[in-house]
Amino acid sequence: MKPQSESNTNNQPVQCAEISWDENGQPISSAFDDVYFSKVSGLEETRHVFIEQNLLPARFASLTDGQVFTIGETGFGSGLNFLCAWHSFLEHAPASARMHFISVEKFPLSRDDMVQALALWPELKDSADQLIKQYPGAIPGFHRCSFADGRVKLTLMMDDVHNAFPQIDGKVNAWFLDGFAPSKNPQMWQPELFTNIADKSAPDATYATFTVARIVRDGLKDGGMSIKKVPGFGRKREMICGEIFPEGQPQNESSNKPWLTRIPATTHNQSAVIIGAGMAGAATAKALAERGWQVTVVDKNTQPALGASGNPQGMLYTRLSANPTPLTQLVTQGYRHTLNLLGEAPEDLYQLCGLVQLPDSNKEQLRQQKLVDCQRYKELLEPMTAQELSDRAGIAIEQDGLYFKDGGWVKPPAFVNWLLAHNNIHFRGNCEVTAMERINDNWQLTLADQTTLTTPVVIIACGHHANALDQTSHLPLKAIRGQITSVPATSASEALRTVICEDGYIAPASHGRHTLGATFHFDDPEEHCRASDHQLNLDNISHFSPAMAQALDFAHLNVDTLPGKVGWRCTTPDYLPMVGPVMDNEVFRERFAVLAKNAKTKVEAEVPWLDGLYINTGHGSRGLITAPLCGELLASQICGELSPLPETLAADLHPGRFPARELIRGTKAL
Ligand SMILES: Cc1cc2nc3c(=O)[nH]c(=O)nc-3n(C[C@H](O)[C@H](O)[C@H](O)COP(=O)(O)OP(=O)(O)OC[C@H]3O[C@@H](n4cnc5c(N)ncnc54)[C@H](O)[C@@H]3O)c2cc1C
Ligand SMILES: C[S@@+](CC[C@H](N)C(=O)[O-])C[C@H]1O[C@@H](n2cnc3c(N)ncnc32)[C@H](O)[C@@H]1O
Repeated sequence: MKPQSESNTNNQPVQCAEISWDENGQPISSAFDDVYFSKVSGLEETRHVFIEQNLLPARFASLTDGQVFTIGETGFGSGLNFLCAWHSFLEHAPASARMHFISVEKFPLSRDDMVQALALWPELKDSADQLIKQYPGAIPGFHRCSFADGRVKLTLMMDDVHNAFPQIDGKVNAWFLDGFAPSKNPQMWQPELFTNIADKSAPDATYATFTVARIVRDGLKDGGMSIKKVPGFGRKREMICGEIFPEGQPQNESSNKPWLTRIPATTHNQSAVIIGAGMAGAATAKALAERGWQVTVVDKNTQPALGASGNPQGMLYTRLSANPTPLTQLVTQGYRHTLNLLGEAPEDLYQLCGLVQLPDSNKEQLRQQKLVDCQRYKELLEPMTAQELSDRAGIAIEQDGLYFKDGGWVKPPAFVNWLLAHNNIHFRGNCEVTAMERINDNWQLTLADQTTLTTPVVIIACGHHANALDQTSHLPLKAIRGQITSVPATSASEALRTVICEDGYIAPASHGRHTLGATFHFDDPEEHCRASDHQLNLDNISHFSPAMAQALDFAHLNVDTLPGKVGWRCTTPDYLPMVGPVMDNEVFRERFAVLAKNAKTKVEAEVPWLDGLYINTGHGSRGLITAPLCGELLASQICGELSPLPETLAADLHPGRFPARELIRGTKAL
């Protein structure tokens, strides 16, 4: 079945800004013929206009324990405003408070221009370097970056403001209305900007802007915002600031489909049990722990990462399509998110050695060509000839393909253990959960040894076993058996410098062995490695890299004795992960029965969410790319914070899509 396309993201490539530099080394936009910040002092301008007029020092100082303050911005530019807000926040806010900053950029600075622009502020060097390290450049979509041990989060939307703002899933407390002068860029300052800002504002929201232009004052007034003129910065006599009075909830697609909406933040005390210590459970645990939660991660095995997340090498690869389908949006964002996360991890956990993706058919070749032609992913991948790929890989490659410069491989078990290594996370092995029951305000989990565990919030992250419990048995999940093969490196195979993927994959040697993967079989419960599956893996490599087969001396390997590992990928009918709250399916079917007759009926009934129960699974063959971002998504939903994903994409991943589809279509999707 094709993935559902419920997101409405524009599919234009993102173009980098063209910058010229003035005599003082300040950036000027060639297209708009305007400055990025005041020629007098960008830093002082930001402090005066955006920080002080939004009263941020005092508002930061008055935050309570664990409270989150969210800032929204128009026009990320060089990131100067973000860096100033980050510094002011750390200076004034209590240690347990957190800050989210969400900004939009239609014409991102290239990384080199960003480096040059931020070099103007030596006092910000440390944080500027961290920003540059995580900066996505011209990659479309939402990108979440994390700083200061997760206390400061940045969500960068690489898109036009008018596309991006309606997709913000969360509420903003203070707005920085930055941008080029309205006379030079009227397209950005259209009335819809102010309507969207009002829609996405929290009840206490304020704004500040450097301009007093008529078009802006009119927009603010029509958006119902108060307008106060105050002295401007530098040569600007005046600027404006004021309060925003949000008018209730805007109507969006999800409000017509209440089974896809975000549920209010949990009001329970901040403690949770996560069932499953693979990538999904560990990533969710880290995201919650960073938010101050106490998390117990339980697993039926003695140690974390003995399920699908237990392979010695996992490839960091993305299969993108030219159309921004929900899956492509998710993997694009997930890819950058995992890379940023790895940037915090010890270097012996992964190797970002580059990844070669070869087409395994004419159809695949066409897909690769379309991907290149659409120009959306220039920062991620590059088409290369067989010779160029051979030069990168260090081993002969016989066909043209794609090169992912940031790709590579990760040690999943070490990655999982690193994610779990947080003071707020406690791991318990030998803990198989066999049943659950809601008793008053808690879930009581029954374990295989008949003991129980009590907790207000449960997150089910146990891969393809996630629907083995009564409460989740309605959710359609499939297990796909996969087997990897481990072969000893040879002096010739040590030449391999990159990952090579086609139908299968091979990674450069780690501890003297290469991982070859992976087979793909539905309805296959065999737990032990099969010689025939090892042979399939060897045949795959021989097919796309005869040179590698020779280097590894496949002809003399005995598949009966080769080591490997068997695991089960967990997938959903639309191949998108399943992340969010869980409902009581029986009650839903009763309350929403009318949908079976007419899917368009607007049902007023409440969706019967199961209090404090969430799921994060369905990561298929790309858990390294999707599980960490989905952990961040789920934690932001549970805590009622700004989502790292566009609203429609979060709806595409919502577990509620399956019971609703089943009711409407009359059949269970499998
Ligand atoms: C052969 C193979 C090769 C792969 N290659 C790649 C790759 O190269 N790149 C990539 O990105 N992805 C790859 N994947 C996919 C990736 O491994 C998965 O998407 C990812 O590991 C899923 O993580 P998870 O946490 O959802 O599941 P798992 O890692 O399976 O974790 C689920 C955990 O839940 C526990 N559990 C289950 N039931 C219970 C219970 N009742 N009580 C307590 N604990 C329970 C299990 O013991 C397990 O530890 C591969 C998968 C396979 C099988
Ligand atoms: C004055 S600069 C912002 C400076 C920035 N805040 C900083 O701290 O460096 C204005 C930015 O708005 C961006 N921009 C212009 N039109 C836009 C639009 N329609 N949507 C999103 N961003 C836009 C420009 O590319 C530019 O980077």
